[in-house]
Amino acid sequence: IKRIGVFTSGGDAPGMNACIRAVVRTALYEKLSVTGIYQGYQGMLDGNFTEMTSRSVSNIIQLGGTILKTARCLEFKTKEGRAKAYENVKAAGIDALVAIGGDGTFTGADFFSKEYDIPVICIPGTIDNDLYGSDFTLGYDTATNTVIEAIDKIRDTAASHERLFFIEVMGRDSGCIALNAGIAGGAEAILLPEKETAIDELIAHLSAADGRGKKSSSIVIVAEGDQNGGAYNVAKKVKEKFDYYDTKVSILGHLQRGGSPSSFDRVLASRLGFAAVKELLKGNNRMTVGVRGNEVVTTPLEEAINNKEYKLSSDMLELVQVLAI
Ligand code: F6P
Repeated sequence: IKRIGVFTSGGDAPGMNACIRAVVRTALYEKLSVTGIYQGYQGMLDGNFTEMTSRSVSNIIQLGGTILKTARCLEFKTKEGRAKAYENVKAAGIDALVAIGGDGTFTGADFFSKEYDIPVICIPGTIDNDLYGSDFTLGYDTATNTVIEAIDKIRDTAASHERLFFIEVMGRDSGCIALNAGIAGGAEAILLPEKETAIDELIAHLSAADGRGKKSSSIVIVAEGDQNGGAYNVAKKVKEKFDYYDTKVSILGHLQRGGSPSSFDRVLASRLGFAAVKELLKGNNRMTVGVRGNEVVTTPLEEAINNKEYKLSSDMLELVQVLAI
């Protein structure tokens, strides 16, 4: 290998810049050249490339977002699109790739590396923490911290007005952000995609809490992928049957994707960026790098794509009930 291409794709996540920095500097340290590919697969199709030096990744470890930009690219899903991308990649002298992103990014890398002789290593980067092969994905820790800051602030106003708040958090089909931030933010109840919560059950829970003198305010966290259809629906259904509280809905939205990465995410990003380049140098291909119990591990790309990992600990699910008394 002489030249690595690095890119970020799919939803941005805090820690992506720290990861780009680690990939670039590890590669340069190992006497490889690095091309930055802008806008993920879209940049491959457009030949939107830039030469990366040690200085081009100065002062970015603390930045949210991604300096290489990102995109969700439909054309890359076609064989013709990938053929065009390959021509551009080859013409730029790129002979290996490091892809940073979520499941869509992994799937694109899987197709591309099956069709063309370009080794690829994938790094899990998404706030959702929904990928197989790593206990944590880049950005998840920061997003969770952002959510608890928001919950704390909403709690101030909820308590002052004696209101019940339904706070919707991101995570797609994963309840990781909801569960962790909900516990850390002292939520009364947490609605998760992985676990059905009947509205009647939620109402019974809220009215029991009320009976125990907790009527001043309450926070209910609703994961966006929750089976009841999101915070507005949950609030509406609760309101129809339980008219005690003044209820409000707050959708946290994309603010959860931004911000300076936490120390956890910066270290994780640095370790995984370093590991990805090392894997390429060992001659490996079609792998993901991740962490398991604080050790860096690799997983075959296909295995990572084809498996779903249940990341909600049973003790945490129980905690939600117990600590809400
Ligand atoms: O995958 C990250 C994520 O933020 C999800 O939590 C959310 O469902 C989705 O991306 C939003 O996507 P977009 O930024 O394209 O609206």
